[in-house]
Amino acid sequence: MSRYHEIYESWKRDPEGFWAGAAEEIDWIRPWDKVFDTVDGLDRWFVGAQCNTCYNCIDRHVEAGRGDQLAYIYDSPITGGTQRKITYAELRDEVATFAAALEDLGVTKGDRVIVYMPMIPEAAIAMLACARIGAIHSVVFGGFAPKELATRIDDARPKVMVSASCGIEPGRVIAYKPLLDEAIELSLSKPDHCIVLQREQAVAQMQEGRDHDWQELMAAMRAEGRQADCVTVKATDPLYILYTSGTTGQPKGVVRDNGGHMVALKWSMKNIYDINPGEAFWAASDVGWVVGHSYIVYAPLLHGCTSIIFEGKPVGTPDAGVFWRVISEHDVVSLFTAPTAFRAIRKEDPEGTFIGQYDLSKFRTLFLAGERADPDTIHWAEDMLKVPVIDHWWQTETGWTIAGNPMGLGMLPVKYGSPTVAMPGYDIQVLGDDGHPVKAGDLGAICVKRPLPPSCLPTLWGNDERFKESYMSAFPGYYETADAGYMDDEGYLYIMARTDDIINVAGHRLSTGGMEEVLASHEDVAECAVVGIADQLKGQAPVGFIVLKAGVNRDPGEIEKECVQLVRQKIGAVAALRTVMNVIRLPKTRSGKILRGTIRKIADGEEWKMPATIDDPAILDELTDVMKDRSVGSFRA
Ligand code: COA
Ligand code: AMP
Repeated sequence: MSRYHEIYESWKRDPEGFWAGAAEEIDWIRPWDKVFDTVDGLDRWFVGAQCNTCYNCIDRHVEAGRGDQLAYIYDSPITGGTQRKITYAELRDEVATFAAALEDLGVTKGDRVIVYMPMIPEAAIAMLACARIGAIHSVVFGGFAPKELATRIDDARPKVMVSASCGIEPGRVIAYKPLLDEAIELSLSKPDHCIVLQREQAVAQMQEGRDHDWQELMAAMRAEGRQADCVTVKATDPLYILYTSGTTGQPKGVVRDNGGHMVALKWSMKNIYDINPGEAFWAASDVGWVVGHSYIVYAPLLHGCTSIIFEGKPVGTPDAGVFWRVISEHDVVSLFTAPTAFRAIRKEDPEGTFIGQYDLSKFRTLFLAGERADPDTIHWAEDMLKVPVIDHWWQTETGWTIAGNPMGLGMLPVKYGSPTVAMPGYDIQVLGDDGHPVKAGDLGAICVKRPLPPSCLPTLWGNDERFKESYMSAFPGYYETADAGYMDDEGYLYIMARTDDIINVAGHRLSTGGMEEVLASHEDVAECAVVGIADQLKGQAPVGFIVLKAGVNRDPGEIEKECVQLVRQKIGAVAALRTVMNVIRLPKTRSGKILRGTIRKIADGEEWKMPATIDDPAILDELTDVMKDRSVGSFRA
């Protein structure tokens, strides 16, 4: 029998008591005055409390005599098998030393530090060092182009940037330093210093005065015997900013606080993931995404676990057996990844031949999130691995599960296609256009009744107004998730689609609006539309439609290629826009709104109705012909 219902009800009866109980798992420097309060219109947890996240992640385990336990295992098949094991004591030493180097460069409490790094331990060390001295880190995913990085630099205005000389993708080394230099060139707000970790695959050119070599800084601090102590911060002070796609090219700076974040993440490790201190937990994501922040860097350490930092891909580094090799070699008990990774493995190894080659006897559970887990992929993973496969739903904004199957409370029956039920802290309501809850089984906007639980964003960085407008205004009293779906009569939730222009490509959250801004900036493009269409491997893939300006008589094929290149150059390879089609006209309503939803349905081969307000129905036939010609989506031969 699962204890879920009992625990959920106990939270509902006394939310503050519930979270105060969970907060006992954290070491506080000063207790809170109020568990929850609304301050200047923003919801805040553990008001008045003081703490330090780095202390809770590292020092307290060392002080408790667990310094020799492994904190991180770095496993890098993409560099040919590099491995590094870091104990809690060693991590404390590295983090405190790097934190001293940051202080030496003038970083103090409240300053921002941008981290633009590949999947190496130094990325986590930099994040934890910021937490140690109360600086606010903002990690930018390595797959983003300089312009995206520049936008984030201008918003966060960091004092220091931390990077590495390169990242490594299959078959190519990506020199990061030229990207960093270009981003700084493009940005209006220049950081004072850059710290660069030199990797042997590409050595970065350093700029005298501004740039510093990671190893040299660390050696200098060590020679002077300098380490930074944990600085006291307020529970409500920001720990980090993580930019995520919004509905425009301007990303949203999701703010995470220190206190509530620790409480929710620590609670999740036992109750949702059913992990015990000392066990190895692996989130195969990237530190540039929220899953990486929460479940590679912070939560496993808060819980005293060993976390795997994996630099590789599910396939091709070197083969579709690498996940099983890592699980067996490092005694991983739970893996957390995106369904797309499993689709990639299944494509390469449909019979699961590699699985049999490894001892997976310690492996207990597979967790999937980041995009809808299609039942087919879940069934395949269950059949192959013979362990529970658990879908759970969350967002960058929340930092942890909104709906899931809490394994530590006793597994609930799985309903395929549903990430299961609301976690304590979340009063989920499916609302109709009139703002009232719809009946069980009816589609609506999925919302969370305020207040959101600990760890969820209190605001957007430097922009309370955008926060309120984006999330809190459509349905007063509720947080709007921007996901649409329904709840059945047993409280199981079904996430069906986004209500905005966000798409999910290989578990990466991207804005089609942002891509449209780039296409529209091409000098020959008059107007454009980007839609996310179903993709067997990546879940969704963007495709673009462009209308050329009158009088342009260049080869449209060339312009299409330039548009693809432009998105790669301005947003990054991760946008994965591979198809742009020149069309004569775009379908619009009489008021001029492009009918993106209808285009998507046609591309996906779904049933669609002619919109009553369409300006000229013939345009849809023209568009369908172009998609057929180009074998796009459901028209693929
Ligand atoms: N730095 C630089 N470039 C990157 C990058 C990074 N960190 N991550 C991805 N890219 C590049 C890729 O090399 C690729 O470039 P290409 O167009 O030259 O081939 C492009 O961005 C698109 O990447 P992706 O969409 O990831 O496709 P892929 O074909 O390289 O890999 C998968 C497909 C499924 C194997 C891969 O997406 C994957 O492992 N996904 C797991 C999802 C995940 O970790 N999600 C995080 C949330 S849980
Ligand atoms: P991100 O902020 O990158 O984590 O992306 C969040 C979005 O991804 C959500 O709003 C959903 O649209 C989608 N998503 C994440 N997890 C799931 C899931 N388990 N099922 C369906 N959609 C999901």
